Amino acid sequence: MVAAPPFVLGIAGSPRRHGNSEQLLDACLAGAKEAGAGVHKLVVADYGIEPCRGCNACSLTGECVIRDRMREIYPLLDEAAAIVVSTPVFFATVPAGLKALYDRCQPYWARRHVLNEPAAPKRRPGGILVVRGGGDPYGWECAAATTKSVFAVLEVRKTFEVVVEGVDSPSELGRHPDAIAKAREAGAGILGSTR
Ligand SMILES: Cc1cc2nc3c(=O)[nH]c(=O)nc-3n(C[C@H](O)[C@H](O)[C@H](O)COP(=O)(O)O)c2cc1C
Repeated sequence: MVAAPPFVLGIAGSPRRHGNSEQLLDACLAGAKEAGAGVHKLVVADYGIEPCRGCNACSLTGECVIRDRMREIYPLLDEAAAIVVSTPVFFATVPAGLKALYDRCQPYWARRHVLNEPAAPKRRPGGILVVRGGGDPYGWECAAATTKSVFAVLEVRKTFEVVVEGVDSPSELGRHPDAIAKAREAGAGILGSTR
């Protein structure tokens, strides 16, 4: 059997297709691809992920009882050599679809903290790309903190963060060439940053 090549999993967290955060992710994944990595883009909005029910069945079995398309996502989360999440700020944190994906990572937490099993198969690098309109005093830090909390259970070590503020219309990311270049550069380096 031939082992699958290492790939960077890019998670597009916005419900709006091809918006500011997805454009930043595309730059990051293009950088990774140019550097020779495999890439897989997962658009959260395509999956209709149900919210966690808080039933704690995963604390008994290590598995989620909900039978939806999250079952296609768990193997990607397990096998990715690196994970990059892109998200807009929605009411100070991440959009509901991405939050549903995050909450459905509770089986990883349960495996490690309740069942004393390894949570994710390996430790890997990761990045966070955050965009926001601004205009409220609550910032982007909560969206990044929520993502870092999930990275912890997925054994992802954050190696970079790119934040763009003051963007609403999808054409506005283009006014931030430095951030786009930074995302591309971070993507190019991500697999080189594995410990
Ligand atoms: C429901 C909703 C809530 C939002 N909440 C915030 C917020 O709390 N803070 C903020 O700075 N921007 C907020 N925004 C603006 C988005 O972060 C901004 O438009 C962003 O560029 C959208 O990224 P996208 O194109 O990747 O979807 C909100 C937008 C929506 C639709």
